[in-house]
Amino acid sequence: MSTSFTQEINSAFSEGAPHWVVAARDCADSTMNVAREMAGAAEESLPFCIIAREQKTGRGRDGRVWTSAPGGFYATFVLSAGAHGEKLSGFSLMVGSVIAELLEGAGVLVQLKWPNDLMSSDGKKLGGILIETMRRATDTILLVGIGVNFDNPIDAQTMASLRSLGASDLEMSEWGANLAIALERGLADFLNQGLDAQLPRWNDRDYLRGKSVRIECGERVVCGIADGISRGGALRIKSSAGIEEIWSGHIIGVGNA
Ligand code: BTN
Repeated sequence: MSTSFTQEINSAFSEGAPHWVVAARDCADSTMNVAREMAGAAEESLPFCIIAREQKTGRGRDGRVWTSAPGGFYATFVLSAGAHGEKLSGFSLMVGSVIAELLEGAGVLVQLKWPNDLMSSDGKKLGGILIETMRRATDTILLVGIGVNFDNPIDAQTMASLRSLGASDLEMSEWGANLAIALERGLADFLNQGLDAQLPRWNDRDYLRGKSVRIECGERVVCGIADGISRGGALRIKSSAGIEEIWSGHIIGVGNA
């Protein structure tokens, strides 16, 4: 089992993303930790990617646990943004669009829930994105963590998987190699053109638009109707007080307006 997971990943990358260094692990604590450790070594060439068959302490956003049983896709892609560290705000939205487009190419309809959730068209969580950065010399290094439910056990009430959506024939290792290439292109587009030029790709798939939402923003709870993403990547919330832009927060309720 372990050899075949590693072999499949290695051979998919050598075919589909040959300039990427890939490290496949049968089991990692979190691919984010492995990636950070590897990226800290000055001699490690970029881009590289860690893919694990399972994670023991997978991490979600805001300190949440990301349950990572075999069958799911768990990877961290490590890319350099060079000296453009200050231009990266909103890059996670770009990553969402890239993943959605790749899954749509395989016939799976995906919606994007601000800030970083991948949703099925019936509003169940299909995957998530966790982005961290670190410095290496004068460069900013992006650690792009992506978890997608392929064929892992899920709570069908709230979650979707590619299997539950009828796309179980999508080959995970090949998809991972295609994702590596798409992310690299996405980063180049993002750095060249900025977020605003890319926003239509996100807005076309906006899960929250027109829905009534409750968002925890530190001590406050903001309620209103989601009205898309502003220039720069904030969530726009419409209420009787006008439009408020939310730059960081946790969605705690979604309903039909
Ligand atoms: C979220 O929706 O909260 C983000 C989830 C990100 C999970 C991925 S799985 C691969 C990588 N390693 C981790 O520990 N987390 C990310």
